Amino acid sequence: MDYRILGRTGLRASTMGIGAGGPSRLGQRDNIRSESESVALVQQGLDAGVNFIDTAEGYRTEEIVGAAIAQRDRARIIISTKKSLGRENISRAALRAGLNESLRRLGTDYVDIYHLHGLRLEQYDYYFQEILPTLQDLKRQGLIRFIGVTEHWNGDLEHKMLQRALNDDVWDVIMVGFNLLNQSARETVLKKAREKDIGVLIMFALRRALSRPDKLRAALNALVESGEVDPGEIDIENPLGFLLADGSAVSIPDAAYRFCRAEGGAHVILSGTGNAQHLTANLETFARPPLPPEHIQRLKRIFRDVTSVTGQ
Ligand SMILES: NC(=O)c1ccc[n+]([C@@H]2O[C@H](COP(=O)([O-])OP(=O)(O)OC[C@H]3O[C@@H](n4cnc5c(N)ncnc54)[C@H](OP(=O)(O)O)[C@@H]3O)[C@@H](O)[C@H]2O)c1
Repeated sequence: MDYRILGRTGLRASTMGIGAGGPSRLGQRDNIRSESESVALVQQGLDAGVNFIDTAEGYRTEEIVGAAIAQRDRARIIISTKKSLGRENISRAALRAGLNESLRRLGTDYVDIYHLHGLRLEQYDYYFQEILPTLQDLKRQGLIRFIGVTEHWNGDLEHKMLQRALNDDVWDVIMVGFNLLNQSARETVLKKAREKDIGVLIMFALRRALSRPDKLRAALNALVESGEVDPGEIDIENPLGFLLADGSAVSIPDAAYRFCRAEGGAHVILSGTGNAQHLTANLETFARPPLPPEHIQRLKRIFRDVTSVTGQ
């Protein structure tokens, strides 16, 4: 496992972060794993050198994360969690109460990064004016070490909220959607985050389109149809086959994670799974060298105009 400094936070984070949400929620979303199996998954990651775990009150996995870290050295683990926002603006009291509940479920007395979860552009001014001061107060009290904000990518394809947030010098960490199919955050978000030395967490590295062949095919057909991908540049029957043909990557998920990991300005790539074999494979992926530059360039070229899909 390699480690990167998470921007201005100065935290030394593993490049692979365990995502306790996403389509799998550590196997809890469809109850395909027992709680102890999910705890074991997190511990498998920690044993392999991952020190970054992302959860949220909305994922209902904070207690699992708490159980997984209970016997570990807390100071060596970076816990990122989030306050759900919903459609109605939340109050300052609700934010404080939410953090207290997260701390209780996580079994800890501080979180390293506390985010506003899936903030939308139209909510931004309220949260900036009314809620940020409370976050800053909680930071002064030592209950949270750093303040973060995550986007709602499926509803904000142009990353408008994060573009707005990057104008204000108050966010220590952001979470942005980025993957080999849709690289639009490179210009709209990552460039400025880099200039401002903001910690960047990448979500949607696989999601469904890059973890399931049927979804990949559907996404590519849609992209050819919309004109965002030139059919002359891909083999529609085996669109990413070139990554595997010369042995550069062992699977599409392997290529997808390594593509994100090579992206300038990206610090932690979140990886969510409820499957121990997938976790083992993903840990191996993060130990491999970067994808060959010619493949990275080719992926940048093929998907350069894509803005309409997230890989959802
Ligand atoms: N707005 C937000 O704040 C927000 C939104 C989304 C996600 N997140 C965070 O980002 C994390 C990552 O979530 P994501 O949405 O980006 O999903 P992801 O981690 O890109 O996608 C994971 C999906 O890929 C599958 N998978 C993982 N490894 C695989 C492998 N080696 N081979 C085949 N399939 C594999 C998983 O299914 P299996 O269980 O079958 O492996 C899962 O369904 C979340 O856990 C969460 O922490 C935050």
